[in-house]
Amino acid sequence: MESRDFGRTGLRVPVVGMGTWQTFDVRDAAGEQARTRVTDAAFETGATFFDSSPMYGQAERVLGRTLNGRRGRAIVATKVWSANDLEAEHQITAALDYFDRLVDVYQVHNLVASRKRIDQLERLKDVGAVRVIGVTHYSAAAFGELRLAMSDPRVGAVQIPYNPDERDVESDILPAAADLGLGVIVMRPFGQGALLRRSVAEPALRPLAPFGISSWPQALLKWILSDLRCHVAIPATSSPEHLRINAAAGQPPWFGADERAYVARLAGHSL
Ligand SMILES: NC(=O)c1ccc[n+]([C@@H]2O[C@H](COP(=O)([O-])OP(=O)(O)OC[C@H]3O[C@@H](n4cnc5c(N)ncnc54)[C@H](OP(=O)(O)O)[C@@H]3O)[C@@H](O)[C@H]2O)c1
Repeated sequence: MESRDFGRTGLRVPVVGMGTWQTFDVRDAAGEQARTRVTDAAFETGATFFDSSPMYGQAERVLGRTLNGRRGRAIVATKVWSANDLEAEHQITAALDYFDRLVDVYQVHNLVASRKRIDQLERLKDVGAVRVIGVTHYSAAAFGELRLAMSDPRVGAVQIPYNPDERDVESDILPAAADLGLGVIVMRPFGQGALLRRSVAEPALRPLAPFGISSWPQALLKWILSDLRCHVAIPATSSPEHLRINAAAGQPPWFGADERAYVARLAGHSL
């Protein structure tokens, strides 16, 4: 697995990690055991960047449990998501409990009360409980606001959607992130699974075999990661096998412009 400098934060991250929205919101022992096998596969393959949020039900708690003695080898990104100071404090206290008193990348989810939340996260950074402060929004309609938040010198990372269906970040957000030296986390690499429901026949992937591509999810991940301004993509999965397939896309050779255009066409777009 290739790793990249996470902007100018001093962190190095594997290029493929894992999201936990829906997939890690499980509430029984059998569910937790099954998710532990997904986390095991992440450690086996080096996909050890994990993203969560208090917005994802039980996902933070379950992720913390599946790390199970391996917290020191993981990079944990989570989020705070409340306009209410007391609730935000509760979310942060819970997350620090789940993740052994350290969150590597603490993000303001959907920019909710971002100034106040960044002040709060900065205080945690001062005492060594947070390494990098991030901002994130899923909606292109909020990218103006996101761009402003990225300029705050205390912000070191940004999480954005980027895939062949969602390319709004190309015009402003990705160039600004590179200029500012921010770490870039790519959410929704499969468009919440929608891109995977488009059938792409195996012969259509053959021209990508020299790039180590044997499946459509891998082609989509390599499309993202071949833009070197993207540091880590975080596909969510409930399957250890899918995780292994995804992780295998995390090494060179990277696509050039022709291969990226080809994958975009397979996804149903012209460049
Ligand atoms: N900051 C924000 O506002 C925000 C918003 C949305 C998401 N996120 C983050 O980004 C992460 C990823 O986005 P997402 O969860 O929305 O969607 P996604 O990663 O684009 O797609 C997830 C879906 O893809 C499937 N999948 C994964 N690998 C596969 C493979 N190799 N083969 C076949 N199917 C595969 C999963 O099903 P299986 O379980 O069957 O594998 C799941 O249904 C989230 O989990 C979350 O951490 C952040």
